[in-house]
Amino acid sequence: MLQDEIIKLKKEKDVVILAHNYQLPEVQDVADFIGDSLGLSRQAAKTPNKTILFCGVHFMAETAAIICPDKKVLIPDLGAGCSLADSITVEQLRDWKKQHPKALAVGYVNTSAEVKSELDYCCTSSNAVNVVKAIPPEQEILFLPDMFLGSYVAKMTGRKNMYIWAGECHVHAGIRSEEIHTLLDSYTNSELLVHPECSCTSQIMYDVAVGDYQGRQVQIMSTEGMMNYAKQSAGKNFVVATETGILYRMQQQNPEKTFIPASRSAVCQYMKMITLEKVHAALLDEKHEVRVSKPTADKARLAIERMLAIS
Ligand code: 13P
Ligand code: SF4
Repeated sequence: MLQDEIIKLKKEKDVVILAHNYQLPEVQDVADFIGDSLGLSRQAAKTPNKTILFCGVHFMAETAAIICPDKKVLIPDLGAGCSLADSITVEQLRDWKKQHPKALAVGYVNTSAEVKSELDYCCTSSNAVNVVKAIPPEQEILFLPDMFLGSYVAKMTGRKNMYIWAGECHVHAGIRSEEIHTLLDSYTNSELLVHPECSCTSQIMYDVAVGDYQGRQVQIMSTEGMMNYAKQSAGKNFVVATETGILYRMQQQNPEKTFIPASRSAVCQYMKMITLEKVHAALLDEKHEVRVSKPTADKARLAIERMLAIS
């Protein structure tokens, strides 16, 4: 079986397989670690294996390559991109910084290595609020590239001096609050878990503030935050507003609970480009290596290390 072959090959070749929560079930099943962007960066940083096979999208593998310059980082498909990471180029960021010379640049991990090399701080969905809180309140901030995560962070920190880039993830932007309302009406006892990249996040924060969700638990968190919350909550039904790949592991870890996707069409086609066949081929031929040039990696690493030190 292909799965057995992969497990044998990764041992023989001293490879660790890291997989994001949105990966296909069969890919998650062969992984050594599954998690969110922050958790996988941390795993990459401490892995003893000489090669990392990253089952996720390109910016995640690049982040691992930046953190671990002495290791070989492979991705099963180099074409696995990210619409959010594509929403800002390094030239656009340089221009933006010129317009606000006193501001610090805080960028989501969903960015290219080149963009990261122009950042002061990196952040992920699980630590964006803490990273911004660690910056003196009078300091202007450029937050990029996700506008929904940006407005969530601005709201949670009460900052008025944050400029937010107008980027979005097409998968999360497509999850509508109307769909969520309909589901919550049919599952009256359900809790709601929302990823801060969702376009409905701003709407939900408003609703929470005016009391629309009175008596109903609402959590806005990263994918791994959702995993942990689902496990420890006494709730039985959860409406989950993020990419549907997360439901496999959630259901596996909590067989007695029910997880309802906020939108069945919230599927990231980039994440799904990583198939078991491509994982096998990548291991067999030790391809496709993700490389970041030393000058870019050295600059980008500073922003990532600042983030890791805070969270
Ligand atoms: P997490 O860091 O919450 O896993 O999110 C990564 C991502 O790409 C969400 O679309
Ligand atoms: Fe990028 Fe959105 Fe896919 Fe996450 S779900 S990898 S942000 S395109």
